[in-house]
Amino acid sequence: MNKSPWFPLFWLLMLVSAALFVKPVHAAGNIAAGKTKSAACAACHGPTGHGMPGQPNPKLAGQNAEYIAKQLADFRSGARKNPLMQGLAANLSPRDMQDIAAYYASQPPMTGAAAGSQDLITLGEKVYRGGNHQTGVSACMSCHGPSGHGIPPRFPRLGGQLATYNQQQMWAFKSGTRNNDSEIMTRIAFRMSAEEIRGVSQYIAGLKESTPPKR
Ligand code: HEC
Ligand code: HEC
Repeated sequence: MNKSPWFPLFWLLMLVSAALFVKPVHAAGNIAAGKTKSAACAACHGPTGHGMPGQPNPKLAGQNAEYIAKQLADFRSGARKNPLMQGLAANLSPRDMQDIAAYYASQPPMTGAAAGSQDLITLGEKVYRGGNHQTGVSACMSCHGPSGHGIPPRFPRLGGQLATYNQQQMWAFKSGTRNNDSEIMTRIAFRMSAEEIRGVSQYIAGLKESTPPKR
């Protein structure tokens, strides 16, 4: 075969383009397998991730898959602490985590309702949409989206989540007991008042996909 001087370059280009093609196709989970594997989770998170009435466990339905998989990996490694979830995650392989994450992410998004006085919800809306300039709290919607839908892969869906869970997580970030967030949420929560946390937690619970993206 008559090798032209371009021959090595040709192969180099082939390799580079192959690498470019392969990279983005990172192992996405299998929804059907995830449904089966999530049977053990249904008692607390609900069979489709919409939670269980009267229980304080977070909803997972419509949560972004990368976020779910990250939390499971964090529970497994101990980066996020919760004795119950750490015990459960210890039995999951990375493949299981991807599959379960894909299943919950594929479900119709969680929905909920805000409770409390109008003043409280209004305060929550103000913080969510505009932050607090005086204390340096960033607007939540810049990362979690105007309707709380989240922005994959890093920023979780919040809209429709239980107010009690939101509030509990904000306090966990504020006190540093949850610190698996690359210091993003811990810094924000640190600057927030108890009233702001209460208000924004309720406001988030009532946020829906259809909430108009007003400013
Ligand atoms: C006995 C009840 C219970 C069971 C069973 C359970 N969970 Fe949980 N899960 C919880 C609680 C409570 C939390 C909140 C932990 C915290 O406060 O940090 C949680 C948190 C989570 C989170 C983090 C949610 C978020 O928004 O950050 C994920 C993901 C999760 N669970 C997935 C699973 C999976 C997958 C299974 C099944 C293998 C499972 N859970 C089984 C109670 C349960
Ligand atoms: C700069 C981006 C950014 C901003 C602004 C932001 N967040 Fe977050 N938030 C994150 C990230 C990233 C996570 C996930 C951390 C992790 O990986 O565990 C998160 C997680 C959360 C969680 C936990 C979700 C769950 O299911 O456990 C809550 C609640 C939350 N944020 C509320 C808020 C509120 C309220 C505000 C506004 C006061 C806010 N966030 C502003 C980036 C942001």
